[in-house]
Amino acid sequence: MTPTPASLFARFPARFTWGVATSSYQIEGAPAGDGKGPSIWDTFSHTPGRVSGGDTGDTACDHYHRWEGDLDLIRSLGVNAYRFSVAWPRVQPTGRGPANAAGLAFYDRLVDGLLARGLTPWVTLYHWDLPQALEDAGGWPSRDTAHAFADYAAIVAGALGDRVRHFITVNEPWVAAHLGYAEGIHAPGHRDHGASIRAAHHLLLGHGLAVGAVRAHAPGAQVGITLNLAAAYPSRDTPEDHAAARRQDGFANRWYLDPVFGRGYPADVCELLGRLSPEAQGVVRAGDLETIAAPTDFLGVNMYSRAVVRDAPGRGWLDLEQVRVEGSEYTGFGWEVAPQSLTDLMLRLEHDYEPGALYVTENGATYPDTVDADGQVRDPERTRYFQSHLAALADAISGGAKVSGYFAWSLMDNFEWAEGYDKRFGLVHVDFATQARTLKASGRWYRDFLTRAAVGTPG
Ligand code: FCB
Repeated sequence: MTPTPASLFARFPARFTWGVATSSYQIEGAPAGDGKGPSIWDTFSHTPGRVSGGDTGDTACDHYHRWEGDLDLIRSLGVNAYRFSVAWPRVQPTGRGPANAAGLAFYDRLVDGLLARGLTPWVTLYHWDLPQALEDAGGWPSRDTAHAFADYAAIVAGALGDRVRHFITVNEPWVAAHLGYAEGIHAPGHRDHGASIRAAHHLLLGHGLAVGAVRAHAPGAQVGITLNLAAAYPSRDTPEDHAAARRQDGFANRWYLDPVFGRGYPADVCELLGRLSPEAQGVVRAGDLETIAAPTDFLGVNMYSRAVVRDAPGRGWLDLEQVRVEGSEYTGFGWEVAPQSLTDLMLRLEHDYEPGALYVTENGATYPDTVDADGQVRDPERTRYFQSHLAALADAISGGAKVSGYFAWSLMDNFEWAEGYDKRFGLVHVDFATQARTLKASGRWYRDFLTRAAVGTPG
């Protein structure tokens, strides 16, 4: 039985952060505006064959120019928080050196605009738009990038930290490292497994250094990392599939969780990596693991689906394959709708890692939405997705997980990386030809869910 919005809402703490999320490259456009330098996503999307349909983020949602209207839209949803990212190459066009005042000023206006509307800003420092000049100098596989990131974090924390109380260092290091450097399907498009392991180490090191930079330049602000996590399950109840699920969990989840929470890299995965492990590649220097384990205030979790795997000797270095589950529902991305796995995941994180607080920093679904003749966007699957995942989150809270907030992905349809504009995740539909924004039925549902019970103070 579907709960009413009010009864579902009542299952959450009174002090709770309710938000929507976006990221810079996906919405801003203005790739050279006010002195911005190119990022790896500018380069990648302009390389023929890399992004579906040849789409680029050149205009995206034109948020760089339409931000005021977009903030009004956010406010109209009844959320109390907004998660966005700062584009590093707007702040430092080549990734190093003094701040570009005009670029930084954009985020200054944005933060003031949010506060004026009673919205709490959540700033992600790195959501994948690495300055191209840093990639040319070696990118994340190079240690220098982690130090450059810390300098950049200090600039942003210094400029915004008087008003911003929540910073996320890095968004989804697994995606940045693995899809960007091993699989080549995200920028910068390399296919080098060893380099991806080095990239992952330096993303984590950059996170740890950035925690220090935020603490120093924005005293009292909360800081954490956001990981993409998907609970892993065996396809069959066999020892082999259980072992495969553990390998999947090690590769995608524990590889990041363990070092961030002070346990170093998981030994079982290091063993599988052999000469490609961070130690064997010689990238772990004395003190790195301590830096990576810098105490944080929260763990951000981006959750979309789960992984169901079976043992498949010879299939890649993990000897496993993902299985499509008979009878399950799948989103437009081919991701299984698996709300129960959100409950399992949050309880496991609470139990195994005891983070200061847990926030769902992204959760959502893509479906091929269209605007009907009457101007409405009817997306009942997305509404069901949000309902079921919020119910699952409420179950996790009842079970003891200390969850302090939830951000829906995404405020509006945007540039979905390698998929271009094809995959729509918004609560708000965007017509990319006219930039018209239309609240989808799911957006109305979220608004009603939040406003019927009146949003309390952010947690
Ligand atoms: C996450 C990303 C976000 C968006 C969603 C669908 O991996 O953090 O930018 O692309 O997936």
